[in-house]
Amino acid sequence: MRILFAASEIYPLIKTGGLADVAGALPVALRAKGHDVKLIMPAYKGILEKVEPIHKKTNLGNPFGVGDLILLETRIIENDTPIFLLQCQALFERDAGPYVDQDGIDYSDNHLRFGAFSWAIAMLAQHGHLIGWKADILHLNDWQTGFAAAYLKSWKMNHIPIITTVHNLRYNGSFEMNKFPDMRLSGELLSIHGLEFYGRFSGLKAGLVYADAITTVSPTYAKEILTSDYGDGLDGTLRAMRYKLHGILNGVDYEQWSPEKDKLIKQAYGVDSLENKLTNKLALLKENNLSEDPSKLVFGVVSRLTEQKGLDLVLEAIPSLLQKGCRLIVLGSGDKALESAYLELQQRYPEQVSIRIGYDEAYSHRLQAGVDALLIPSRFEPCGLTQLYALKYGTLPLVRKTGGLADSVFEEGEHANGFVFEHANQAALSDALLRSLACFEDIHAWREKQRNAMAYDFSWEGTTEKWEQVYRGLLN
Ligand code: ADP
Ligand code: GLC
Repeated sequence: MRILFAASEIYPLIKTGGLADVAGALPVALRAKGHDVKLIMPAYKGILEKVEPIHKKTNLGNPFGVGDLILLETRIIENDTPIFLLQCQALFERDAGPYVDQDGIDYSDNHLRFGAFSWAIAMLAQHGHLIGWKADILHLNDWQTGFAAAYLKSWKMNHIPIITTVHNLRYNGSFEMNKFPDMRLSGELLSIHGLEFYGRFSGLKAGLVYADAITTVSPTYAKEILTSDYGDGLDGTLRAMRYKLHGILNGVDYEQWSPEKDKLIKQAYGVDSLENKLTNKLALLKENNLSEDPSKLVFGVVSRLTEQKGLDLVLEAIPSLLQKGCRLIVLGSGDKALESAYLELQQRYPEQVSIRIGYDEAYSHRLQAGVDALLIPSRFEPCGLTQLYALKYGTLPLVRKTGGLADSVFEEGEHANGFVFEHANQAALSDALLRSLACFEDIHAWREKQRNAMAYDFSWEGTTEKWEQVYRGLLN
């Protein structure tokens, strides 16, 4: 099958979260199965240095009056995957992140930036002759690509099957109505059955209503989003569309995330050499100037610091564990109030707590390998990748039972691989923390969970079949 796969971030070119990991790995897995997958992403600042020299340029014109949209054809060096980069200096070449400025504020023209990106996606999907390649299927991801479905709808041309994957319903890409004229979309689409969303217009809703199939990144999240608690205002829309909704758990790229092969960690290890994990633990403690006592349980966090992730609960629950000698090592950034609350905790417990604010891919690997348990107390979690990585590293995840966390971490049973709590409150989290400490103090019980954890296989190879089924369903 020929699949055009569109995403606003793709590892190893640019990454702010799990979407990049997925967009960097699923297409590679599908290509390994013989499918002809090509990627499309904006040419953000600095991206051209990370790809092969440009093979071909196509000028798509200046439909939004902000400068020519130029399509660059190249390949990702690391995995040889073909990619189209959409170049437009005024829209994409900015110094800060792909979505927000230096202060963490959304760019005020994001509707136009991702409107233009979506328009280009739709052009490629519809007019294969522009690039000498006609996709059978268009695969969109999240709101930044959702308007493509609206352009295709409003152009009323031959229909190409569209699949939209929801990685996070909370980010619905909705904008004030007075920006709608900028989009060059027909006003006909602005109904409640179209992209209208509580008096605004939404890119994600466009992607949902005009898609032939919707997927989300875990079976549990696929059920949760049909309820008002988790639906973020789109549950009604989704309930009406449940006939085309599928939940497929994300996979892991074990080439990047395996303690046996990981070049970014101090000492390689595997299930038969778990004692070597200790070298990574000691190195991580040393790196952070924390006391190097291997007998104490070290908790870790690698996360965006947002309401979603429930990390305010950790701030409340962790002090009593610190008083029992546990350690906490955090890597994250996001919400400024949470950042400073964590830094304050570090000040209170300088020998036991280390907080690194920022984004650091290499350090995230050292942390995964070095800590004993990874905390993911999310209020909602469409899939979550860090618990899947932790499992492979024999780092036991402690999670809230929601979304993809509920589908991958189990406290009870023969294959128990971590710790799970149900309610998003301090008492429930504190209980789970204490259970993990009790388990840690029983080395046999802990080792057994570690071995179980490492035996789980969440590789993409295992998941691609499910994707192929959805794709095939659209072509029949
Ligand atoms: P989300 O996409 O909601 O942020 P996921 O668990 O799906 O959550 O994916 C997060 C990805 O981003 C993982 O690869 C994780 O290791 C990475 N990550 C998150 N925060 C940081 C950080 N501060 N530094 C480095 N990597 C990070
Ligand atoms: C989103 C979700 C996360 C998921 C990731 C990749 O960012 O928050 O749960 O793992 O997308 O699908």
